[in-house]
This record gives sequence, C-alpha cells and structure tokens, in this order.
Amino acid sequence: MKPGAVEYYLRPGTLQLAALPPLSLYVHLPWCLKKCPYCDFNSHESQGPVNESRYLDALCADLESALPLVWGRPVHSVFIGGGTPSLFSPGGIERLLADIRARLPLVPDCEITLEANPGTFERDRFRAFRAAGVTRLSIGVQSFDDTALQAIGRVHDAAQARAAVAEARAAFDSFNIDLMYALPGQSLAHLDADLDAALAFAPPHLSVYHLTLEPNTWFATHPPLLPDADLASDMLDRIVQRTAAAGLQRYEVSAFAAAGQRCRHNLNYWQFGDYLGIGAGAHGKLSFPQRIVRQQRWRDPATYMAQALAGAALSQDAPVPRAELPFEFMLNALRLRDGFERALFMQRTGLPASAIDATLDEAQRRGLLQGLPEHVRPTPLGFDFLSDLQAMFLSVPGRHVKATGRTNAG
Ligand SMILES: C[S@@+](CC[C@H](N)C(=O)[O-])C[C@H]1O[C@@H](n2cnc3c(N)ncnc32)[C@H](O)[C@@H]1O
Ligand code: SF4
Repeated sequence: MKPGAVEYYLRPGTLQLAALPPLSLYVHLPWCLKKCPYCDFNSHESQGPVNESRYLDALCADLESALPLVWGRPVHSVFIGGGTPSLFSPGGIERLLADIRARLPLVPDCEITLEANPGTFERDRFRAFRAAGVTRLSIGVQSFDDTALQAIGRVHDAAQARAAVAEARAAFDSFNIDLMYALPGQSLAHLDADLDAALAFAPPHLSVYHLTLEPNTWFATHPPLLPDADLASDMLDRIVQRTAAAGLQRYEVSAFAAAGQRCRHNLNYWQFGDYLGIGAGAHGKLSFPQRIVRQQRWRDPATYMAQALAGAALSQDAPVPRAELPFEFMLNALRLRDGFERALFMQRTGLPASAIDATLDEAQRRGLLQGLPEHVRPTPLGFDFLSDLQAMFLSVPGRHVKATGRTNAG
C-alpha cells in the first residue's frame, strides 16, 4: 500500500466520519506575466509562451490518478486559480472544463470561478471564458489608483481595471473584485476613492485583503512604507461600514457579498469541506470514513508536469494528526462571521464533542464566543482577536498561527 492508492486511505484509523463532506475542485494555473513584489503564491513569470497543451495534459493525468479517491462524489464547485489563469486561451479553459466534466460529476448549476487579471489582453477574452463554461469571474484589481498600483508593482493601470470590471459585469452574472488595503502611501481618502470605484459597479462579491509582507517576497527584503496599525484598523472599519451601506454583508474576515452571492467554493473551505487540488503546488484535503488526508502536488511547474504525466503528481500526502484537527477546523470555521453549528465540528472532523467542549466554554467565559451550546459564533471581540481565539484550539499552545485569509483559491 502506498500513498495515493485508495487502499492506503481506507485502512483503519481513529476518526469516525458518519458522512463525507461536500467536495470541491481547485485547479492551479501557475504562470503570470510578471511576479508581483508582495506575492507568495506559487506563481512564476511565464518567460515566453506557456506550453498550454502539455500543462493541460498533466492536469488531466493528475485528475485521472486522483479519481479513485473521490469516486462517485458530486463536485459542488470548481475554482481555477493562480497565477493568472486568464493568460490561458479560452480554448484551453474549454478543454480543461471538458476534461473535468468527462471525469467528475459536477452538480447542476455548479459554480465555476476563474481568476483573471485586468490587463487588456485578458479583458478581450472574458466573453469567451463565459462561453467556455466559467460562471463567475474573480478579478484581481487590488486598487483603482495608478500610484498605488505602481507602488505594488502591478502591470495594469486604473483605466484597465475599470474597463475589466465593466466587461466582467456585462459578460458574467456573478463576479468578484479583489482589493487590497493598507497599501504603500495609502490614506483614508485614497481608500474611500477605491471603495467608491469598486462599489460603483455594484459588485455581487468583494474580497478585501490587508496587504501583508510575506517571507520570501521582494517586499520582505525591500519593505515599502506602509500605513501604521492604527490607520490600517481605521481602514478596516471604513471598509466594513461602507460595504454594509452598499448592501454587502461581511460573511468572512475578508469577504463581502450581496444576498445569495457568497462564494460557494470558499465557503466549502471555511466549513471544512473537502477539496481535490490539482496543478503545480495545489493543496487538497480529502476525507475518508476513518481519516482526513492532506495532499500537495509538486510546486515547480516543470517538475509537476513531468511527475503528473508519469502518474506521480503528489509531493506530499499525509493524514492530519487527530490532535491537530480541532485547530485545523477552527482556523477555517471561525473565520465565518456567523460561525457554525457545533454539530458541524463532529461531522467534519470525525471527533467527539469532548475534543473541543472545554475550550469552547473557556472562550465563551473570556467573551470571545457566543451562541453555545448549539452554535459557535465569534463575538465582535473574538472576531477582532481571531488568531488568539483560534490558537486556543492548538494541541500545543503557542504554536505559531498564520491565518491570512487567502486560501488555495485566492
Ligand atoms: C491568487 S491571488 C492572485 C490573483 C491574480 N493573479 C491577481 O493577482 O490579480 C488572489 C488575491 O490575493 C490577494 N493577495 C495576494 N498577495 C497578497 C498579500 N501579500 N497580501 C494581501 N493580499 C494578497 C490579492 O488581492 C489577489 O488578488
Ligand atoms: S499577485 Fe497575482 S499576478 Fe501577481 S504574481 Fe501573484 S498571482 Fe501573479
């Protein structure tokens, strides 16, 4: 029995999952025109034309090898992330979706999101992506301010960002705008102007991320001058107020949606659902009746292609240790503004309630949680000190907590 083989996952374990959670599919397309100085995603400058068809062959081989692990399970959402997936041709995306549909049962009205950058070259393809079967476009705008865009090394300008959102709005029923705040030199007035610009499009969904300086990025070694913590906190207050006034509900730390427009794919991550991740460096989490497994694919695109085509796309594959599951679950589920039903913990982890009950009570006593015993919901204080709240569920207290809110899906 070896990792990757279904017998390996089905051997006896210590968890008791009565039913498997909903399954999503994440597909990673790792190339960009230029590496942004703040970006720690598995993205690589394309340096010449990408060998699209070889990468699509590799994805298909990867998917084929993974099929026995998800046999018969319907797929509730697909997210094609990157990198810059919109650099792929519409024909390539159409082939990818056809390959997926031929192998996995997608639910009717399956949400299929594609991440796009706002360059002109990409914008011309939006309608063709829609025709290829993409239902939702997620546009990496970051800011509508030329100075800020330059300061964070983006290749597009504000006019292209506006044109891209207008085109997405015309071509897709549903779309998301990614913004970042606490940008170099940004003031509250600049932020207001960004929010004015974004909200003018009445976006069904907005993701707003605090710019973080990640290790191993250009900004980590060449840090720009950023707004201080007080200003950043005022900015977040402004974002929450203004999105609410525009009818967008903050349903997760960084996610704001109009009624009925929450991102189903990301919700599945936050509710500790399952996801198969294919493509260079993609992560996956898959549940079996007695264990939960995390997988990772080879990160380097050339290595990934060679390995996937040889039937060996996995670089890591290990069960989540039982002792780590409470924290893993809370790292996701406590990000949701409305929290979750306490029973979801047992359903999704296969652990008994006794694994968390004492900590839940303690968090309630400290004013960080409310709604117990049936529901688990962060109080405003708990939401403000989310990392501390999540860390209470660590099996080894004090282990470093990193929760940026940017998932596999971006
Ligand atoms: C997978 S990324 C990239 C999507 C697309 N390639 C782009 O850049 O437009 C998804 C989102 O994460 C956010 N992001 C990336 N790096 C970040 C950082 N260091 N701090 C905060 N947000 C970040 C950006 O808003 C970005 O649009
Ligand atoms: S932020 Fe987006 S466009 Fe920039 S390097 Fe990262 S994935 Fe590519």
